[in-house]
Amino acid sequence: MDRFNSARSLVRALAPTRPITCLRPDAAARASRYFVRNFPGEILYAVKTNPMPEILDAVHNAGVRRYDVASITEIDQITRRFPDARVSYMHPVKSRDDIGQAYFKYGVRDFALDSGDELEKILSATDNADDLNLLIRLAVPNFHAELDLSAKFGMAPLAGAELLFKCRSLAKRLGVCFHVGSQCMNPSAYGTAIHMVRDLIVSSGVTLDIVDVGGGFPSAYPHMEPPPLNAYMGEIALALKTLPVGDGCEIWAEPGRALVAEAASTLVRVDLRRDGFLYINDGTYGSLFDAGVPGFIFPARAIRPTGKVSGRLAAFSFYGPTCDSLDFMKGPFMLADDIGEGDYIEIGLTGAYGSAMRTHFNGFYSDEMALLTDAPMLTMYRPGAATDWPSADGPLRQNTGNAS
Ligand SMILES: Cc1ncc(COP(=O)(O)O)c(C=O)c1O
Repeated sequence: MDRFNSARSLVRALAPTRPITCLRPDAAARASRYFVRNFPGEILYAVKTNPMPEILDAVHNAGVRRYDVASITEIDQITRRFPDARVSYMHPVKSRDDIGQAYFKYGVRDFALDSGDELEKILSATDNADDLNLLIRLAVPNFHAELDLSAKFGMAPLAGAELLFKCRSLAKRLGVCFHVGSQCMNPSAYGTAIHMVRDLIVSSGVTLDIVDVGGGFPSAYPHMEPPPLNAYMGEIALALKTLPVGDGCEIWAEPGRALVAEAASTLVRVDLRRDGFLYINDGTYGSLFDAGVPGFIFPARAIRPTGKVSGRLAAFSFYGPTCDSLDFMKGPFMLADDIGEGDYIEIGLTGAYGSAMRTHFNGFYSDEMALLTDAPMLTMYRPGAATDWPSADGPLRQNTGNAS
């Protein structure tokens, strides 16, 4: 893969006609190292967030050996690539075929569930195995996250307590998991959820072997500057102390976004400008889903192939290349006010749920990639300080210079 020291050098060397995923694997490694060193338990990388080989390798090289997977395809990819990996099937609804394959073909033992029907499926598909690690998914409030992950999955406390009780005698190890919602902006969400787990342990009278605090750890986007990650680690460590569990209880987390958001940006070209609207060659059916309905505002900078863009910034919205009006990204994305057709835009922080969600809709699909060696446009991880970054330092180091 070609390597450049910035998106600007890439544009000047290649003048690409299709969108390019610009990878910064070092950023994924740096974030992974922070989590491995600072989270008080095991890190399971949520593979769905970004399964590109370069990113998987960076996360693995940083010391992550466990993976939260959602499908047989992910299980197959991870077990082939990393023979030392342990995969945990944390999707609460799975087909019988997939459960059976995961158990018998790939040796998976960790399964999440949030209903009695799913328990029945897991038991029958594994021939009533007696070495299952079962994790009950609890629904938790979503006061602070951009994307709710407790509407579709997760049990209410009473039903959760009943299922927990039932699973105690069936599971080798028994756990509870939850997801506070993606891009969780307030560490207290983890405290609230862990206190719900405490109430569940008390009401069910069951001992737990695993508490899995899920994903949700934030990344830094314009207009969304979360508290430092140390505040999340502190809140979790404090809340865990209140749990009536033994020393042997394992603590897991399944971060996705926070590990890889900074590890890619998307380089697009402007095909047309209509006032404050830029028609670009990638969109919500490509690498920019989160800029659509979820309305994430990504950092962006304009790059002119020859010459310079204006130093004055203006607010723009984007239209993607497909015929669908939903292929719209409201922004505002702040860019040089004289940007126009033929200019490029580097859209930063697209490493999480970016290229992983590309479709071929309308025939637009680009798998072109390049490696960049410069810093991500925004970061939660100060260079060299990922292990001991004091919370008082503030959350962000910003690198928003106009590249032209
Ligand atoms: C079960 C599960 N774990 C972890 C994650 C990763 O979440 P995040 O990217 O917010 O850290 C997700 C995201 O959808 C998920 O569904």
